[in-house]
Amino acid sequence: MELQAIKERLKAARSPVALTGAGISAESGVPTFRGPDGLWRNFRPEDLATPEAFERDPALVWEWYDWRRSLIAGIRPNPAHYALAEFERRNPAFTLITQNVDGLHRSAGSGNIIEIHGSIWTVRCIECGNSSENRDVPIKILPRCGCGGLLRPGVVWFGEALPEDLLYRSFEAASSADIMLVVGTSGVVQPAASFATRAKDAGAFVIEINPETTPLSGRVDAVIQGRAGEMLPRLIG
Ligand code: OAD
Repeated sequence: MELQAIKERLKAARSPVALTGAGISAESGVPTFRGPDGLWRNFRPEDLATPEAFERDPALVWEWYDWRRSLIAGIRPNPAHYALAEFERRNPAFTLITQNVDGLHRSAGSGNIIEIHGSIWTVRCIECGNSSENRDVPIKILPRCGCGGLLRPGVVWFGEALPEDLLYRSFEAASSADIMLVVGTSGVVQPAASFATRAKDAGAFVIEINPETTPLSGRVDAVIQGRAGEMLPRLIG
């Protein structure tokens, strides 16, 4: 389908939704999880982003997060983030579901965001459960709560459930979407990927933007093979 036709559809959308993944931040310089730069000291995210890894070696997991926090602290949103923020200004019904924990959508000006995997800038006490914002770079390893308990990153790890309210809001948004943009996600992590199929099954027109083919590519209505930072401004500009 022509970009122009998709642009028209987006303009006419009544309840648009976007689902974004690490690829939307790639052009800002954030390494994707499954790309060539996704490894840190030869660990895969599946080796570190788990409750078991944190239990075994919290300092190692914190070192990884500290590395990611310092990397993200120094970078800016890119034209893809700004295009989605602009889209929300034009259409306040727009809902942005992101798997990213980097906070770049918010920095770009998006407001109606469901951060389903949490935020790398929050910490949570494993003893008292208190969550708070923490922007220390570097962060003191190991960070402690006022109550003395160990703090963990305020993100969702493999094997953990998504917060129920966010899951509910995401499925609601996907189910009532008339158009969905699926941007920069490999589509292999659940339940995030299922938001796209949920939207499709509920009748939305689903568009994928990704330079690579993904397991979702064959199931969407239109595939735009390209980089988010180039394609989104063309669709929304
Ligand atoms: P992945 O690293 O799995 O996938 C990134 C996707 O972005 C790939 O399909 C790339 O082809 C695509 N991509 C790369 N550069 C791009 C660009 N410039 N424009 C558009 N797309 C581009 O990242 P996610 O799908 O986000 O979970 O991974 C899902 C989850 O797995 C993450 O949220 C994280 C991870 O473990 C948690 O932290 C819980």
